[in-house]
Amino acid sequence: VTLGLDLGTSGVKVVALGQDGQTLAQSTHAYALLTPQPGWTEQHPQDWAEATFAALREVAGQLRAAGHAPLALGLSGQMHGAVFLGEHGEVIRPAPLWNDQRTAAAVSELEAKVPRHDLIARTGNRAVTGFQLPKLLWLRQAEPENFARTRHMLLPKDYLGYLLTGQMHTEPSDASGVGALNLQSKTWDQGVLGALGLSADLFPEVIDSWAVSGHLLPELAAQTGLPAGLPVVAGGGDNAAAGIALGLSSLRPQIGSVSLGTSGVLFVPLEQPTPDPEGRVHLFAHADGGYNLLGVTLSAAGALQWFRDRLAPGTDFQTLLGEAASVPGGADGVTFMPHLAGERSPYMNPDLRASWTGLSLAHGRGHMVRALLEGAAFALADAYEVMRPLSGVTTLLATGGGARSDLWLGLVSGALELEVRRTASEPGAAEGAALLAFPAAGFAPDLNTVMLTHSPSGEVVPRLDTAAARSQHRREVERL
Ligand code: XUL
Repeated sequence: VTLGLDLGTSGVKVVALGQDGQTLAQSTHAYALLTPQPGWTEQHPQDWAEATFAALREVAGQLRAAGHAPLALGLSGQMHGAVFLGEHGEVIRPAPLWNDQRTAAAVSELEAKVPRHDLIARTGNRAVTGFQLPKLLWLRQAEPENFARTRHMLLPKDYLGYLLTGQMHTEPSDASGVGALNLQSKTWDQGVLGALGLSADLFPEVIDSWAVSGHLLPELAAQTGLPAGLPVVAGGGDNAAAGIALGLSSLRPQIGSVSLGTSGVLFVPLEQPTPDPEGRVHLFAHADGGYNLLGVTLSAAGALQWFRDRLAPGTDFQTLLGEAASVPGGADGVTFMPHLAGERSPYMNPDLRASWTGLSLAHGRGHMVRALLEGAAFALADAYEVMRPLSGVTTLLATGGGARSDLWLGLVSGALELEVRRTASEPGAAEGAALLAFPAAGFAPDLNTVMLTHSPSGEVVPRLDTAAARSQHRREVERL
């Protein structure tokens, strides 16, 4: 049995997988999200630690009762957060998270010191508000005493790894979301850090995602009931680990995924690190040694949830989706732009806002929902247009709450002109982290063997005609 852990934004999930990939035990524990100022999001690393130890203890108990022995633990979690540590590994302040917006001035500083095209060529990404590096520049500017005390900066899951093993490491999939990792060499880019006056000593050593980072400390073994010396594997950022769980391999770049969660996420594996020259989608290292493009649209199922909660409270999603299904494609001329929370890919503009256009007395709620579903599909298509020349993807595996709707998936398939498949089960980042620990457990000689034996499958969703919605969407894009 291997264990996998996903340190999410709302809570931590721990799973135990058998060698055949079956889930044998699991536990989740929630923690608080702090919003001390508008646009700021933080968490207490201590809360992560307590929730994680509790979840590990429960899973250890379930495994003991069933007679299973864990052989390795893999880590994954929310990307981009910054845990600032002092000389003795003590936490200096709460950790700003991936969706924190305080770094606008830091992003300007970065762009002034490292030209955008140079940064993209080195790191695969332009300076992004949520990434970790701008958080360090923010600390230097806003809290100089805290910056002066900072000796190490770790990503969220890597901080847990440090607590569990006493070792500070990271791995390429999460490290590439810092904004300072050279994607060719997978080491910290001295050119970028030098231009900013930062030392590479602040950052942990980068090891392979499937490599053993350290071994469970005796006091943590006593606290969790897991065996002392249990190998802890570096793991992956949550998107990369979820990709591993779905069987997305850089050796199979024709299969990617689309997630219709609160946000919409397109994940496309690549063999080589080919960035969009304008950085309109992210390029990260995948946890299998290759790379992936990531397109993030901020309002997907979140837009439908907002519509239901604010404009149709008490109505169930099935009713709304049924009304939308009875309206023709193009919603009789109604168009929705879904930028309720600004937009990441491809516009990278936090100030964009949402709209319906084309409404008349003849239109009703079904038209508005139909337009919302089409608008979210075309927001993903806008991100995919940037990826298309860089990727060989032909099929997307669908995940997330919105993927329960055939109508929505059919619209996504039409808008992106790709095959969309519904997966039978929906493994996530925790399961991916457990798979990343398979080589360390001796279940496979290497990760590629694991990936090739867990091949993706799923039923094809019928594609819908999106011609009318496409031309209306194009007109609205012109106006952005
Ligand atoms: C990826 C990103 C999110 C976080 C959420 O760039 O910001 O997907 O990883 O956990």
